[in-house]
Amino acid sequence: MKTDEGIYSFQSDGSGLICGLYMVAKPNYNVEFEFLQFDVGCAKNGLLSVIDGWELNGQFFPGIDDHQLPRNSRYHEFCGHIKPRKTFKMSQNVGLIEYRIPNAGQGFMVRVRFVENPRPCNVIIQDLVGIYTIRNYGRRINCTVSIILEASFQILSMNIGQSYRPLGNLISLRNYVVETGIIKKCKKRGMEDYVELLGGNNLDPYHMTVFEDMCGLRSFSFKKKFKVTCPHTAIRLVSSGQYDNLFEFTYKADDSASPLECPN
Ligand SMILES: *[C@@H]1O[C@H](CO)[C@@H](O)[C@H](O)[C@H]1NC(C)=O
Repeated sequence: MKTDEGIYSFQSDGSGLICGLYMVAKPNYNVEFEFLQFDVGCAKNGLLSVIDGWELNGQFFPGIDDHQLPRNSRYHEFCGHIKPRKTFKMSQNVGLIEYRIPNAGQGFMVRVRFVENPRPCNVIIQDLVGIYTIRNYGRRINCTVSIILEASFQILSMNIGQSYRPLGNLISLRNYVVETGIIKKCKKRGMEDYVELLGGNNLDPYHMTVFEDMCGLRSFSFKKKFKVTCPHTAIRLVSSGQYDNLFEFTYKADDSASPLECPN
């Protein structure tokens, strides 16, 4: 796993193991890959894949259904001696190059760039403590912030399913919004906009357990701490596109979670 821009290279010692370069940038940057050298012979199943997101034990981040692109378009596979010409632009702050290069002396060199993304949606956070705000910016989009550790949260403020997206020159209905406080079980109540706290043993939010789901307007911080007792924690904001949703929280991660505590 690497967190810095720059040039990375790999040269095979002939072992033929499957390896991965897992890149992660700050949340408001997207990762880009550009190959400078490429020599991955197809013989003996030599192969290199560029993946838009991360893959771990067959699961993906962002989850298959939360990604703007269908699964096949997130995968690009290459072998041979011709360098892939295009620049691979990831849709979020993480990207992966997976490779098996069984021919000793072969390998590749890739330039990794981080490009600013003013409206991040799916994000993997790498800091152990921090403050983060998930927003949909009025879009019909589902966004997941993944902390790949056990974590506890405190809500600083939330505004979900309350403030209508500003519509051109109409007078904003915002003025009529009332402080509802935190409303729980919003999905069950039939609301289309809510935030979910998720925990699980792997990357894909769709395979995680929902610990809590909430909506409403709470403009000041909430003392209660929410704790997810799983090796992986995620917060997913589901947005219908009718509202400008925002969920601001602090989190603290630790790595003491046992998979046994995590509900399946
Ligand atoms: C967002 O998630 C909800 C619930 O999982 C789903 O019904 C909806 O279709 C998703 N929206 C998009 C844009 O993928």
